[in-house]
Amino acid sequence: MRPILRWAGSKRRIVSKLADYWNASGSTRYVEPFAGSAALFCSIEAKRAVLGDMNGDLISMYEPVRDHPNRVANALHRWAGEKDEYYEVRATLPESLAPEVRAARFLYLNRWCFNGIYRTNKLGHFNVPFGGNRVGPSVTREDLLRFSKLIRWTLLVPGDFSETLTHVEPGDFVYLDPPYSIQGVRVFNEYVSGGFGASDLQRLRLHLENLHSKHCRFLVSYADCEEGRALGQGFKIDVVEVTRNVGGFRSRRRKAREILIHN
Ligand SMILES: C[S@@+](CC[C@H](N)C(=O)[O-])C[C@H]1O[C@@H](n2cnc3c(N)ncnc32)[C@H](O)[C@@H]1O
Repeated sequence: MRPILRWAGSKRRIVSKLADYWNASGSTRYVEPFAGSAALFCSIEAKRAVLGDMNGDLISMYEPVRDHPNRVANALHRWAGEKDEYYEVRATLPESLAPEVRAARFLYLNRWCFNGIYRTNKLGHFNVPFGGNRVGPSVTREDLLRFSKLIRWTLLVPGDFSETLTHVEPGDFVYLDPPYSIQGVRVFNEYVSGGFGASDLQRLRLHLENLHSKHCRFLVSYADCEEGRALGQGFKIDVVEVTRNVGGFRSRRRKAREILIHN
């Protein structure tokens, strides 16, 4: 199935290439510590999974979608997607809402905001402007019911990737899609305050070594750059070509190389 979110850095366009590495038996557990919209997970429809992300609002949205998809759909479909309404919904404090309305608010803002970006101000309030009408179809009740079924047996973990990796067991398949950190190059990696930097990449490298010694198969996608090559040193590295929208605009596309690190 398709993800229920638009997400910066989503791997929607290369899922068919990524899926070749999954190639697992039906009982293999899938773990994704930088889940975002979890495009690969949705595509392979893994039966058992652990999904984690540092964005706590994202994980708090997935929980009611998993447990009460109809209630989320009822709340979501009260809104039409108009500009004034968008700013009204954006101004409501998520803490003041019931979990399923809060999840609907997250989905609504994600659908109608500019470029599907998640960005908050210093107070932690979502502050992305209205994106206009070029945002594609809204999530339907059927999408939510299907996704709910897909994540029925999924453990959801809010927090740093190291937290999700504490749940990994021998035999699991781990897909890691961290934000890019490339020296001297401006890339969108402000998913969470503080961003993702060189020290995070070093931590990640140690976790890859740990996964390898635990007999877990892993796959990492990263930009083809010095930092990515260092992250994968000593493991297998394949190169794929991807088409990216420059600044999020579909009319301005360019080709880029990404690497897939695996063991
Ligand atoms: C490139 S996106 C992942 C996209 C995802 N593969 C998809 O298909 O949508 C990176 C994700 O990592 C999350 N993130 C950033 N720093 C993190 C950290 N230290 N630990 C866990 N997740 C983090 C962001 O919130 C974002 O959702």
